[in-house]
Amino acid sequence: MKMAKLETKGIVKHFAHESHKLMALGGVDLKVEDGDFVCLVGPSGCGKSTFLRIVAGLETPDEGEILFDGKPVTTTGPERIMVFQEGALFPWLRVQDNVEFGLKMAGIPKEERAQISKRYLDMMQLTKFANSFTYQLSTGMRQRVAIARALVMDPDVLLMDEPFAALDAQTRDLLLVEMQLIWEKTKKTILFVTHNVAEAAVLGTKVAIFSNRPSKIKKLVPVDFKRPRTPEDENLLGLQQEILSELRPEVKKSK
Ligand SMILES: Nc1ncnc2c1ncn2[C@@H]1O[C@H](COP(=O)(O)OP(=O)(O)OP(=O)(O)O)[C@@H](O)[C@H]1O
Ligand SMILES: [Mg+2]
Repeated sequence: MKMAKLETKGIVKHFAHESHKLMALGGVDLKVEDGDFVCLVGPSGCGKSTFLRIVAGLETPDEGEILFDGKPVTTTGPERIMVFQEGALFPWLRVQDNVEFGLKMAGIPKEERAQISKRYLDMMQLTKFANSFTYQLSTGMRQRVAIARALVMDPDVLLMDEPFAALDAQTRDLLLVEMQLIWEKTKKTILFVTHNVAEAAVLGTKVAIFSNRPSKIKKLVPVDFKRPRTPEDENLLGLQQEILSELRPEVKKSK
């Protein structure tokens, strides 16, 4: 069998809560193939963000391991990059310098940086705004800068935690289309946390449904419809129902 690009085995994570320990993740097993776009859904507080941070190497699990190309990883690495929300951009830097920030830190010379950032600014339709400051952009544009900033690092795996949560519906619909194009162009492996079941069905090659705490992956649902998909696609409604019917009992348990 083909080796998974990324595999998590039995990830367990506790947090101190009042006088006892709370088990957030109760053994998360997930296999992600190269080029998969896995959307993670689950009840609030079940540990999706914690799981993503553990995969990024920003947090250590109490038990279990992360395998990247079959090898255990325990720290952050350039092959797994988290797309932080647009709020994490540097307001004192211009758009292009925000996008090039990671490359600069990695010691890439100026001309090469400019070449790389140009490609992603184009892809994100931000070329005209390369010299703007981030406060001069709309929320959706800032989100695109945040995505470009991660993409320039050319990671194998992109980790995204509710990147569209703060957007208005129109901007989100635009980015849903753009995100599918980006994925098709770059063939990145993506882990994408969302609360929005329609968003998960539109974007994902698979949707991973988390159970309530202590969380595990309750079900991994493949999504095989043609792209580009939109939230209005009637083909996707049955799938959304299926995901919701798995989610509903978990959300009730967490109340
Ligand atoms: N640093 C921390 N200290 C203590 N408890 C934490 C910490 N981080 C997370 N938790 C707890 O772990 C659980 C999972 O949190 P997490 O943020 O991963 O959930 P989530 O699934 O991302 O939720 P949401 O959908 O609301 O974003 C919660 O009960 C939370 O209170
Ligand atoms: Mg979260």
